[in-house]
Amino acid sequence: MDITEVLKLADELVFTQTGNHLDYLQEAILQGTLEGETYAKIAEETYASEGHVRDVGSELWKLLSKGLGKEVSKANFKAILEKANFYNYSSAIGRDYVTVNNVHLCSEARRSPPHPPQPQATQTQLHLDLSNAPEIFNFYGRTEELATLDRAIVGDRCRLVALLGFGGMGKTTLALRLVEQVKNQFEYVIYRSLRFYSDLGAIAANLLQIFSPDTEIPDRLETQLSQLLTHLRQSRCLIILDDLQIPFNSGKLAGGNGAIYEEYRLFFKTIAEVTHQSCIVAIADEKPLAITTLEKQNYPVRSLVLQGLGDAAKSILQDQNLSDSETWDSLINLYHGNPLWLEITATSIRELCGGRVGDFLTYKTPVLWEPLQAQLDQKFQRLTLPEKKAIAQLSTATEPVILMHLLQLTQLSAAEFFKVMQSLDRRLFVEIQEREGVTQFFLNPVLREYAKSWGLD
Ligand SMILES: Nc1ncnc2c1ncn2[C@@H]1O[C@H](COP(=O)(O)OP(=O)(O)OP(=O)(O)O)[C@@H](O)[C@H]1O
Ligand SMILES: [Mg+2]
Repeated sequence: MDITEVLKLADELVFTQTGNHLDYLQEAILQGTLEGETYAKIAEETYASEGHVRDVGSELWKLLSKGLGKEVSKANFKAILEKANFYNYSSAIGRDYVTVNNVHLCSEARRSPPHPPQPQATQTQLHLDLSNAPEIFNFYGRTEELATLDRAIVGDRCRLVALLGFGGMGKTTLALRLVEQVKNQFEYVIYRSLRFYSDLGAIAANLLQIFSPDTEIPDRLETQLSQLLTHLRQSRCLIILDDLQIPFNSGKLAGGNGAIYEEYRLFFKTIAEVTHQSCIVAIADEKPLAITTLEKQNYPVRSLVLQGLGDAAKSILQDQNLSDSETWDSLINLYHGNPLWLEITATSIRELCGGRVGDFLTYKTPVLWEPLQAQLDQKFQRLTLPEKKAIAQLSTATEPVILMHLLQLTQLSAAEFFKVMQSLDRRLFVEIQEREGVTQFFLNPVLREYAKSWGLD
C-alpha cells in the first residue's frame, strides 16, 4: 500500500465534502496512523498540542466515514484499507468515485452521478514543459532550502510560493532542481520566464494553450484568468514564473506601482484566496509587496529569501581548480556567497592569478569584473535618488550602521528615510539586523565597492 495513494484518496474524499484539501496536520495524522503512531507521538512530530491533534483527527475520521460510507476511526483505518486491498483510484477532482479493489466507492454527496463513471481508473501523466528554462550543469548545497520549499509545496500545499534573492543568488537553479524533486506530485509542471512575455495576458494565453490546445483563447484577461483557475482546480499543477521583477516599473520605490503591477497583484491575490490544488512559484530579485502582504494574511502563501551558498560554494571554486583552499572562506565572504559572483571571480582568478586565491586576496576588496559590473549597473539603475543617497552613505561604513546614525547621515526626513530603507530591504540591497534591541544596516562588500566607485555625494 502506497502512502501517497492513500493521501490522494483521503484528499479527494475531504475535498469533495469541504472544498478544502488535506492540510499538513491532517496528512501527518493519516501517515502517523498508518505507521501505528499514537496521537501523542504525532503531536510531538508536528509541534502541535495533543488535544489539537485529537480534535483534527476526530473531524477527519468523520469526513472519511462519510466519504467512504463506513465507520472509520484511528483504530480501524489501516485495517479498512488493507481489507479493501486498496490499490487504485481516480485522481481527477470532479470525478464521482474512487476505485477500491475494483469496487467504486461513491462519496455520500455524490451517490448518484449524472453520468455513469468510467470503469477504468486512469494513471495521471506528467506534462513537463521547461521550454524557457536554462540548462543546469552543477548543483551544490541548498539542502535546507530544498526541504523548506518541498514542505511548503508538497507538505503544506501552499498555493503561492515566492522564491526571492539578489541577482545571481541561484533562484532559477534552485527552482529547476526542485522540479526534479517534486515533479511526480503534479500533473503539469511548467516553467516560464517573464522576460519572454509582454504582460500577464500573454502568460495566461500561453498557459491556456498548454492546458487545452484545441480551445480558442479568449481575448479578455478576466476570462483567461478564470479559465486558468479552472485548470488549476482540475489538475494539480506547478507553475514557475521566473524574473517577476521585469514587468514592474523602475525608478519608483520597490513594492509595486502602475497598471501592470496591479494586474499581477490581483492575479496573486486570486491564486492565494481561491480554492484550487495547484501551486505557483514566483521568482524575483525583489520582495513583491503583492505576495508578502498575502503571506501576512495567513493565506497558504510562503516566501523564501535565498542567502549565500555558504560552504557549498567551495565546490564552485573546486570546479575551477583554484588553490589555497585555506583562504576560500574569505573569498566566499567577500563575494557574499553569491554563486554567480563567485563563478565569475573564480574564472578570473584562474586566468589572472594562476588559480591562487591567496594572491588575489592580498587586494582585500572585491574586484567588480566586467559581467558583475554590468549586472550591478542594471540593478542600481532601478534605484530612486533618495535610495542612491542612502546607499552612498552606507557604503562609507565597513561596520553595520545603526538606524539613527544613518538617518542623520542621509539628511532625509524621518518619514522619507523609513520608506527608503523599507524599499532597499525589499530590493534585497541592504542587510538589516537586530542587535541588542538596536536596528543596524549594512551593505555587502560587493555592493559597497560598487557604490563607492559611483561617487555620489
Ligand atoms: N546551488 C548551486 N550550485 C552550483 N551552481 C549554482 C548554484 N546556484 C547557482 N549556481 C550558479 O550560479 C549562477 C547564477 O544562478 P541563477 O541563474 O540560478 O541565479 P538567479 O538568482 O536566478 O539570478 P537572476 O536573478 O539573475 O535570475 C548560474 O551560473 C548557476 O549555475
Ligand atoms: Mg534567474
